[in-house]
Amino acid sequence: MRPDWPIELEIGPGRGGFLFERLAAVPQLCMLGFEIRRKWATIVDNKLKASGFGQRSRVFYEDARSALPRVPAASLARVYIHFPDPWWKKRHEKRLVVNPTLLPELVRVLVPGGELFVQTDVEDRAAEYEAAIDACPGLVAAAPAGPRLAENPFLARSPREHRAIKDGLPIHRLLYRKA
Ligand SMILES: C[S@@+](CC[C@H](N)C(=O)[O-])C[C@H]1O[C@@H](n2cnc3c(N)ncnc32)[C@H](O)[C@@H]1O
Repeated sequence: MRPDWPIELEIGPGRGGFLFERLAAVPQLCMLGFEIRRKWATIVDNKLKASGFGQRSRVFYEDARSALPRVPAASLARVYIHFPDPWWKKRHEKRLVVNPTLLPELVRVLVPGGELFVQTDVEDRAAEYEAAIDACPGLVAAAPAGPRLAENPFLARSPREHRAIKDGLPIHRLLYRKA
C-alpha cells in the first residue's frame, strides 16, 4: 500500500470484478475488500496478487460489521456497497449489512469529504437505505439535488451490476459524502 494514495473499501466484493476494474482504471489508488465468504475472499485475494495488483489491494475474509470497528478513523476515501443484502425474510434481518449500527462506523472511517456509494436493483431496498442514511448524522447527499445517481461514475462495475444491465433491470444508486 502506498501511504500517499487514497484507500477505498468495497464491502462484499463477491467475485471481485469491481476491484479489478477499478484498480485498472485508476492507477494511483489502493483498495480493500471485506468479504464474508471465505472461498471468494481467498480466491479474489490470490487473483489480485497474480494479476499484479497485490501491492495496492487486498481482500480479507471478514464480516464488515465486525471488521469496520478495527479500521482507523478517517482512513478511507470511499466505501462501496454494491447489491448487498439478498435476504428478504424478517428472520434474516440481522444479516443486513446496511444497518443503523454499521452506518456510524462508516462515517468514522471515512476521511472528511469521503464518499459512500450504494447500489441495488431492488427499489424497496434502495428506499430503505436512503431513509437510513438520511437519518445518519455525518452523511449528506453528494449533490444538492439529492443522493440518487442515474449512472455509476466510478469507471468500474460489480458483477451484479453487469448482470443487471444485461438483464435490463433498473439500478438504484445512492451517493453520499461525509460532511
Ligand atoms: C449479492 S452479493 C453481491 C456481490 C458483489 N458486490 C456484486 O455486486 O456483484 C453480496 C456480497 O456481500 C457479501 N456479504 C454479505 N454480508 C457481508 C458482510 N457482513 N461482510 C462482508 N461481506 C458480506 C456476500 O458474501 C456477497 O459476496
